[in-house]
Amino acid sequence: MSAFFDVLLGRQSVKFVQAPGPTDEQLDLILQAALRAPDHGAVRPWRFVLVRGADVPALVDVGVRAGIAAGTPLPQPKVDNARKWLSKVPLVIALGCRPDPSGRIPEHESLLAVGAAAMNMLNAAHALGLGAFWSTGIGVYLDGVGEALGFDALDERFMGYLAIGTPIDTPDPVQRPDWRDHVSEWHAPAPA
Ligand SMILES: Cc1cc2nc3c(=O)[nH]c(=O)nc-3n(C[C@H](O)[C@H](O)[C@H](O)COP(=O)(O)O)c2cc1C
Repeated sequence: MSAFFDVLLGRQSVKFVQAPGPTDEQLDLILQAALRAPDHGAVRPWRFVLVRGADVPALVDVGVRAGIAAGTPLPQPKVDNARKWLSKVPLVIALGCRPDPSGRIPEHESLLAVGAAAMNMLNAAHALGLGAFWSTGIGVYLDGVGEALGFDALDERFMGYLAIGTPIDTPDPVQRPDWRDHVSEWHAPAPA
């Protein structure tokens, strides 16, 4: 197997990370990888917001405030766990999407382009020996959270967080599904 496939097939999410986060050079590579995602119509829908160091745990407060404002406070154990987790995370990339304003390219295609960028960032982080984890916890879907991070309430969609840093522990290998359980073949119908 080539080194590329060793990296690609060896990726797994690593939630618990600590400093040091990516160097400037590594972050540049991660973000360049993001912008290699496919993008129908060259909409360029990617909007990323970097949250670093001491600002990272404040993301929990944003979610907590939004929960209270919505009348659905986040459960305290969830808040406590999020605080504990993010207190060590050196970098969060908030994922946003600005779909095609003309509507020519369907919105879901821009969301997929941001998802593809996120996947490239997860792979790039892994290739650099870093750990990364995509989360939509901490109130991501509550009104006001995306706006608090700087995403436009009307024209942009907030899609969650990528936490990136140095793995705290070596993660246990995960069992992956067999692709044969997820793949079928299509054949052209016989001519009438
Ligand atoms: C859009 C998206 C949102 C996610 N949000 C969460 C989350 O809030 N909490 C969580 O435990 N896992 C979440 N996950 C799953 C983890 O990021 C991760 O994929 C999962 O733990 C499986 O690990 P793996 O990537 O090694 O297969 C999310 C995944 C995606 C794609």
